[in-house]
Amino acid sequence: MNKTVDILLTNIGQLLLMEKLDSPKKGNEMQQLSYLENAALGITGNEISFIGTIEEAKEIKTNYLIDCEGKIVSPGLVDPHTHVVFGGSREHELALKQQGVPYLEILKQGGGILSTVRATREISEEDLYKKAKFHLDRMLSYGITTVEGKSGYGLDKETELKQLRVLKKLNQRHEMDIVSTFLGAHAIPANYKENPDAFLDEMLAMLPQIKEENLATYVDIFCETGVFTVEQSKRFMLAAKDAGFDVKIHADEIDSLGGTELAGEVKAISAEHLVGASDRGIKALAEAGTIAVLLPGTTFYLGKEKYARARTMIEEGVAVTISTDFNPGSCVTENIQMIMSLAALKLKMTPEEIWNAVTINAAHAIGKEDEAGYLALGGNADVVIWDAPNYKYIPYHYGVNHANTVIKNGKVVFE
Ligand code: NIG
Ligand code: FE
Repeated sequence: MNKTVDILLTNIGQLLLMEKLDSPKKGNEMQQLSYLENAALGITGNEISFIGTIEEAKEIKTNYLIDCEGKIVSPGLVDPHTHVVFGGSREHELALKQQGVPYLEILKQGGGILSTVRATREISEEDLYKKAKFHLDRMLSYGITTVEGKSGYGLDKETELKQLRVLKKLNQRHEMDIVSTFLGAHAIPANYKENPDAFLDEMLAMLPQIKEENLATYVDIFCETGVFTVEQSKRFMLAAKDAGFDVKIHADEIDSLGGTELAGEVKAISAEHLVGASDRGIKALAEAGTIAVLLPGTTFYLGKEKYARARTMIEEGVAVTISTDFNPGSCVTENIQMIMSLAALKLKMTPEEIWNAVTINAAHAIGKEDEAGYLALGGNADVVIWDAPNYKYIPYHYGVNHANTVIKNGKVVFE
């Protein structure tokens, strides 16, 4: 063999091998994780062109050799739920939280999401772009190479479109692959306080334009006390499906309203948060094949004791993924590795389940399973080199960045 590759990674302690699968890993399948020890990996263009042992790699020529002694290599991580495009910040709310003011009370008083809405309406499109880019750069540095981003801080046509256009431009120009979700139904703006259904109609009226301009793949809604009811969410999700969108739902995050059951009933691609999901709701997800997107960083940041029941979900055969939920109010971090630690400590997920969650299952939750979340010959060269002796080490050593080098589409984007 006399092969040449553009980049050769060798002396890899563990190379996580993840196949491209037609469906996410459900229940016990999440426990399967294959890896090759003392491995090497070659990249040609934007593809993985070689996977083998260190011995086999000795025959391969390259101008760019990376010695991965003492390190592991994984596919680029996928973050399937973020609110990365927003104006302003909300550090002033931390003191309210310390005084024990609940998240939904802050929102009720016109703060919370509505405070970010004001800031997002005010900021120019150019500055909004720069701000989101800053956060995406940071995500990339933590090993995330594909991300979902939601609108939802406009709550009016102009600003929702501004957010979606920023996401689209970033997807075209930034190294990160971005999947956009229209979350116009994120809160009820003050001028519609007495008439949330009319507000939902206004948001639904935007769907043809969003489709035509290819501004979003998914439509999402926040089903919660003081926001949208299960009935309103159902009408909204069904109308979005009629308009040709797959749907997502923020369900049972704080109060147990039954959004999880609804997600199963309307066959949502994913249901997010699920902290208060009932047994019936969990069964509905398993039956419908709806992916559970769990956000333990949010539960942590909201200071709650009770976390989503990941173990029950996995036992019931649900496909589980985890995500940062990065946003300026309920989870202010771009660090998905920290979320992996919380998944271990608070959701009691095993390291194998966690790695499947942040790769293959996350990719399925945002329709990116053909391009992201796996590592195999011929696949996209989205690869992370980690300063870790083995894959169990990352959730174990928490709060810091273990990413040593991040390669996106065959290009080193962080080192
Ligand atoms: O997923 N729950 C609703 N949306 C976000 C929080 C948004 C915010 O507080 O700005 C979430 O937690
Ligand atoms: Fe969210």
